[in-house]
Amino acid sequence: MKEDRQPPFHHHHRRLAAFTRRSFTKSTAYVVILILLSFALGYLSAASYHPRQHSQSPTISQTTIASATAAVTATELDHYRFRTQCADPVHPKLVRQTILDRVFNGTSPYASFPPPHISPLLRESRIKGWGSNGAVFGNLIRKVKPETIIEVGTFLGASAINMARLTRELGLKTQILCVDDFRGWPGFLDRFRELKMVNGDVMLMYQFMQNVVHVNSTESVLFVPFQTGTTLEKLCEWGVFGDLVEVDAGHDFHSAWIDINRAYKVLRPGGVMFGHDYFTAADYRGVRRAVNLFAKVNGFRVKVDGQHWVIDSA
Ligand SMILES: C[S@@+](CC[C@H](N)C(=O)[O-])C[C@H]1O[C@@H](n2cnc3c(N)ncnc32)[C@H](O)[C@@H]1O
Ligand SMILES: *[C@@H]1O[C@H](CO)[C@@H](O)[C@H](O)[C@H]1NC(C)=O
Ligand SMILES: *[C@@H]1O[C@H](CO)[C@@H](O)[C@H](O)[C@H]1NC(C)=O
Repeated sequence: MKEDRQPPFHHHHRRLAAFTRRSFTKSTAYVVILILLSFALGYLSAASYHPRQHSQSPTISQTTIASATAAVTATELDHYRFRTQCADPVHPKLVRQTILDRVFNGTSPYASFPPPHISPLLRESRIKGWGSNGAVFGNLIRKVKPETIIEVGTFLGASAINMARLTRELGLKTQILCVDDFRGWPGFLDRFRELKMVNGDVMLMYQFMQNVVHVNSTESVLFVPFQTGTTLEKLCEWGVFGDLVEVDAGHDFHSAWIDINRAYKVLRPGGVMFGHDYFTAADYRGVRRAVNLFAKVNGFRVKVDGQHWVIDSA
């Protein structure tokens, strides 16, 4: 394992952050004060703004600039603000039932699967991923012995199925929660021609489920078939935390930034977060920059394991 040599600039906040994850950290407090200040500035300058200048004068007044600056400052800081408050954790043994109740009306989605009209459209097994069998999965599972794993970005389930096998081999009773809207991305069928599309629906969720059924992992692998943003917010609200959280959904900077920050909210204090594409073609376009910024802002060190980044919050 190689380590990123960049020293984190907030490392003195790190311990504090680890222990007061669900309350405001010092740095959050500074940010909030700055935001309040900039709102106050914006309000004052807006209040002193002369209406005549609106309609008559094309000159940009000092007050307009001050107001615009304040707005930009507040907006920029907003990029760093994510929900700070999650519910008390539900017991790991209740995680599965919590998801069944909250998402699936109390019934396992694997019950009476596959539906007759879908069955002929599925392959018995089509498990394909990217770096989904990397050594990092085994390394972290052996180290963390997770009771709950949250995977953000699942596709056909290759990495989730790999983790199910690894945890089973270690005799762990791990619940793996897969978050994916199972839409893939526009045009992805070009590279998966054997998958069927019905009225524009690529049926990724059904093929993923079929893959999980094929490897007999319907107990350990459950899923939440919605957008990463709304889902991670809800997991936080329901008190569903992961000891291990994998982030592998959108790979552009902005998607990765949001996912990593939201994923961190549902990481059990002391847990480990990791993700793909720190060192692949997709890296500097987004993921690596987002991971590095997250680590810098929160005072963590980024470790590298193969193509994956790893952040240990312990
Ligand atoms: C690279 S694939 C995941 C691969 C998987 N971890 C593996 O190794 O086999 C990315 C997945 O993220 C999902 N995804 C991307 N953006 C998403 C979003 N905003 N909400 C939900 N899912 C998303 C896509 O549907 C796709 O299945
Ligand atoms: C949810 O479950 C209740 C009680 O079993 C049932 O009456 C209701 O129709 C179900 N709703 C859906 C959307 O399946
Ligand atoms: C799944 O279970 C069935 C029936 O118990 C068994 O025949 C099959 O080999 C199992 N498949 C895997 C991948 O473990």
